[in-house]
Amino acid sequence: MMRVGLLGCGNIGHLIASHAEGFEITALYDQDPDRARELAAGLGATAYDSFEAFAASDVDLVVEAASVRAVRTHGEAVLEAGKDFVVMSVGALAEPSFLAHLRAAAVAARRRVYIPSGAVMGLDNLKVGRIGGIDRVILRTTKNPASLGLSVAERTLIFSGRADECVQAFPKNINVSAAIALAAGREVEVELWADPAVDRNIHEITAEGAFGDAYIRVRNVPSPDNPATSYLAALSILVLLRDLGEPIVVGT
Ligand SMILES: NC(=O)c1ccc[n+]([C@@H]2O[C@H](COP(=O)([O-])OP(=O)(O)OC[C@H]3O[C@@H](n4cnc5c(N)ncnc54)[C@H](O)[C@@H]3O)[C@@H](O)[C@H]2O)c1
Repeated sequence: MMRVGLLGCGNIGHLIASHAEGFEITALYDQDPDRARELAAGLGATAYDSFEAFAASDVDLVVEAASVRAVRTHGEAVLEAGKDFVVMSVGALAEPSFLAHLRAAAVAARRRVYIPSGAVMGLDNLKVGRIGGIDRVILRTTKNPASLGLSVAERTLIFSGRADECVQAFPKNINVSAAIALAAGREVEVELWADPAVDRNIHEITAEGAFGDAYIRVRNVPSPDNPATSYLAALSILVLLRDLGEPIVVGT
């Protein structure tokens, strides 16, 4: 069975651990060692206090469910240690120079970096952009103001512009636009709305290109333990991990 190392033992880490089927989590690391120890105890796995020892452990791949900083700090070392790397904090790859750096590290180590679909659907066929060409992609995200740390009385547009500008103003909202940009192979126009009437994280993607046009709307329920994280995002890692061990894989 595939052996997985978990980098980050918070909300998503716990969800992955509680649904580990078709793979086994054998090594855990968190900057807060108590979190790794607590989760490891329930799994009968090993918690490491040192990242270097974690990366050197006998796992096939490392799943990052920690932070953009963790990807930047540890991504290259994971690949150099001979492990494939699943990146949840995909916002780290919005920086072109870091993306190129990680890509070169993966090529040199003959390892792969996997990016789960996360909080949206439709990344599979947005990849058509790399072949047929996509002319325009718009991402409109609507969240309850509380989850954005804001207080507004009515539906309000709080950001409109390029994804890389959105990172600076709302860094926690970059994962989805970064994943879409990587899939479509082009810049994404982002709108961020705060709406006190919604209790879900809503992502609407509009794409136009040689294939035709598409409109995708996902209304995500927040994760049971962390309202800032969509439940779908955690589940998407599980599907990716299961697919890696499956003889038949559905979807592009
Ligand atoms: N791709 C997507 O669509 C998507 C969706 C939701 C969340 N995310 C991202 O996934 C990540 C995890 O989300 P979560 O809800 O589990 O967060 P969380 O805050 O509940 O847990 C993160 C854990 O990682 C640990 N951590 C943070 N930085 C670390 C580092 N540098 N080294 C080691 N450990 C570190 C923390 O101590 C914490 O235990 C976040 O970066 C989040 O933005 C991505």
